[in-house]
Amino acid sequence: LIENRKADHIRICLTKDVQARRITTGLEDVYLIHRALPEMSFEDVDTSASLFGHRLSAPVVIEAMTGGTLEAERINRVLAQAAEHFRIAMGVGSQRAALERRELEHTFRVARDAAPNAFLIGNIGLSQLLKKGWEDKVKRAVEMIEADALAIHLNALQEAIQPEGDTNFKEGLERIKEVASNLQIPIIVKETGAGIAYEEAKLLETAKVNGIDVGGAGGTSWAAVESYRERRESAKVRELGETFWDWGIPTAVTTIEVLKSTNLTVIASGGIRTGIDVAKVIALGAEAAGLAWPLLKPAVEGYLKDAIRGLIEELRVSMFLTGSKTVKELEHKPIVITGKTAQWLRARGFNPEEYAIR
Ligand SMILES: Cc1cc2nc3c(=O)[nH]c(=O)nc-3n(C[C@H](O)[C@H](O)[C@H](O)COP(=O)(O)O)c2cc1C
Repeated sequence: LIENRKADHIRICLTKDVQARRITTGLEDVYLIHRALPEMSFEDVDTSASLFGHRLSAPVVIEAMTGGTLEAERINRVLAQAAEHFRIAMGVGSQRAALERRELEHTFRVARDAAPNAFLIGNIGLSQLLKKGWEDKVKRAVEMIEADALAIHLNALQEAIQPEGDTNFKEGLERIKEVASNLQIPIIVKETGAGIAYEEAKLLETAKVNGIDVGGAGGTSWAAVESYRERRESAKVRELGETFWDWGIPTAVTTIEVLKSTNLTVIASGGIRTGIDVAKVIALGAEAAGLAWPLLKPAVEGYLKDAIRGLIEELRVSMFLTGSKTVKELEHKPIVITGKTAQWLRARGFNPEEYAIR
């Protein structure tokens, strides 16, 4: 049952080490330049931002995590209350369970009830959209939470490792195009920890999607989550999960690849862990940064607001130390990109030095 799978995912993410091991986001290679003379007062910092034209108090997205179970409903309520309180955006987890069983709709709907004004993002897997009845699923997913945008998630890595995975992604681009031409709200195509290369980003732009949430490598590893899930049942799944644990395109790299090859709105996610990371991806050109795993335990254990307050405070300090009064100013601050990330970008035809002086 999908509900069991979802409950497993939450339990594993709360109790096991599911973070990347030997791959990093590359954000450790990305440096903002310290301004010893910021020529402003700390109180002048304004972190407000906009995402698809919707005003936020900070460029932060609570990434898609859950729904479908009672525990998930509780988590969605807490996440949504925080999204409403801080005026940040939030994605619900894959709505598949409720699309298959209407009686589970309330476990997602709770997000809209708790966050009547927040920018809420619906979530559906591309593999679900490749089955019959997809038009109806899209419509219901949006209506269920009165979504402000719909994320179509790509998780080929996870599906390939799950024994019961949906591994048919044939004609996925065509389907994304059909969804995008049918829907009035923004469509975001979202990876889940392996990143999106510029080749796909360009294709997605031709399919007329509105945004890409890069979901890069260096944070939560879905290969890791699946390897824990099947630990008892199957040695093969465990091995596959171990082998692919660190698969993917680092978050800093995928963020730049997508930004430099398209005009799409970019949400940078995958291993974003501090307000400094948020500041870095904004300076690279992302419209917002998304976090999933770091918010799960705070949501379950009751200190989510403190966690988000801390994150926004770190962003505020980063803005002060780079002399950025506004998020718009931060977008134009110089960045130095070194090491592995610079090498990777150069190998792919991008110029890491172009951010250094501006
Ligand atoms: C417990 C958990 C459940 C998730 N479920 C979904 C999901 O249903 N749909 C989706 O698109 N992404 C899902 N994700 C992926 C996240 O949205 C995000 O892309 C990924 O975890 C990388 O961010 P992080 O390193 O901050 O966790 C989930 C992540 C976590 C930690």
